[in-house]
Amino acid sequence: MERTHPRPGPPAARPGTGARTAVIWAVLRRELDRQGDRALAVLDVGGGTGGFAVPLAEAGHRVTVVDASPDALAALTRRAAEAGVADRVRAVQGDGDALGGLVEPASVDLVLCHAVLEVVDDPAPVAAALATALRPGGAASVLVAGRAAAVLARATGGQLAAAAAILSDPEGRAGPRDTLRRRYDPDGATALLHSAGLLVEEVHGVRALTDLLPSAVADGDQRAVLELELAVAALPPYRDIAAQLHLFARRTP
Ligand SMILES: C[S@@+](CC[C@H](N)C(=O)[O-])C[C@H]1O[C@@H](n2cnc3c(N)ncnc32)[C@H](O)[C@@H]1O
Repeated sequence: MERTHPRPGPPAARPGTGARTAVIWAVLRRELDRQGDRALAVLDVGGGTGGFAVPLAEAGHRVTVVDASPDALAALTRRAAEAGVADRVRAVQGDGDALGGLVEPASVDLVLCHAVLEVVDDPAPVAAALATALRPGGAASVLVAGRAAAVLARATGGQLAAAAAILSDPEGRAGPRDTLRRRYDPDGATALLHSAGLLVEEVHGVRALTDLLPSAVADGDQRAVLELELAVAALPPYRDIAAQLHLFARRTP
């Protein structure tokens, strides 16, 4: 792998960074720092319009985004060009569970799969494909929808039947018209990645507090909100009732 001196890094978890993604960036920042000044091969599966891909490319890394949506990829390409990193961002239309034909096995240092496993037909082959793409020792950043937060949100919004369904359904689904195919508890998400050959090192809650705050509070002292969000992210029970669960895992050597 070539060595370069990346430009100043992507958003760290610092005041001024959006509280909704601060926890994820804090975990990623640590992994990027751990790799020193190496330009990493990053794969973002279901990376959409590049909310993570473009900042990572701006930090000097080479990012391939595989996404099923041509519209999302077109927006990604525009965004990368506007940021001046088009040469470090590759947009590939394709399915997450068919990565084998799109990405060389064991070629990736860091794989992202954010807000995807809850919408695909079958998460197991996608998780397996993430592991296959990673080099031994490579890291995975996986973000999934949390079940407990959805139960609480439906119940406090008066949708008691939907809350009960999400609680009791094996997939954590409110019903056939639910926009998500499944939701996760920390143990279930960890087991999914483990079955794929990924060792989960950390689990954090994302948006544990931000989605619960009245907007006057969320828009008020943003520094305080961000610091509180970071403080609770790793701590059960706050972690477990977060809107999303972030798992940081590594392919076993
Ligand atoms: C909720 S968006 C998340 C986008 C981005 N990862 C983020 O966190 O902002 C889900 C993305 O996954 C993509 N997607 C859904 N199913 C997919 C599949 N089977 N293979 C690849 N991409 C998929 C969608 O096109 C969409 O861009």
